[in-house]
Amino acid sequence: MKIDRYEKIWMWASGAMLCAFFATMAGAAIGSSIGPPSHVQTIDPQKVLSDPLFHQQGTWVDRGGRVHATIVATAFAWLPAQLTLPAATPVTFHMTSIDVLHGFEIVRTNAQATLIPGYVSQFTTQFAPGDYMIVCNEYCGVGHHIMAAKMAAIPRSQWRPTMAAPDVPPAHENGHDSH
Ligand code: CUA
Repeated sequence: MKIDRYEKIWMWASGAMLCAFFATMAGAAIGSSIGPPSHVQTIDPQKVLSDPLFHQQGTWVDRGGRVHATIVATAFAWLPAQLTLPAATPVTFHMTSIDVLHGFEIVRTNAQATLIPGYVSQFTTQFAPGDYMIVCNEYCGVGHHIMAAKMAAIPRSQWRPTMAAPDVPPAHENGHDSH
């Protein structure tokens, strides 16, 4: 088979570009520990509401003073329906679904996570003071559009957690994922 010289050049050039792009991605992923905003933590969806981390939902502070929020998604509600967080403070969210796939989204922020039954989603972020709305952004059934909750970020000095720290192993208390 005869391949034109220019065609050959472009074939090698595009091959080299693919290698360069892949090397860039691999460098970023490995060098800067960039990964999906989750750690692989599984949970039996049937037993979420008896799990030490999830049997109560709300906000808590761990032994290291870090703020956490535990949230459960169910068709068609968020538990809890009202979340109050300290502003300008890193908060680690622990979330899962007890039934179908839901999309956790705090409107007008970068806080988003897909909640898959059987898995715990986790991320850490912080908020400017204000009122926020939590919605579901993955179609989950006839009540998808009413699946919403309220969130407020208030000054840290006025904030109190809604529950005691759950009795879970320290792995749950990591303020940040793999960074
Ligand atoms: Cu839950 Cu859409």
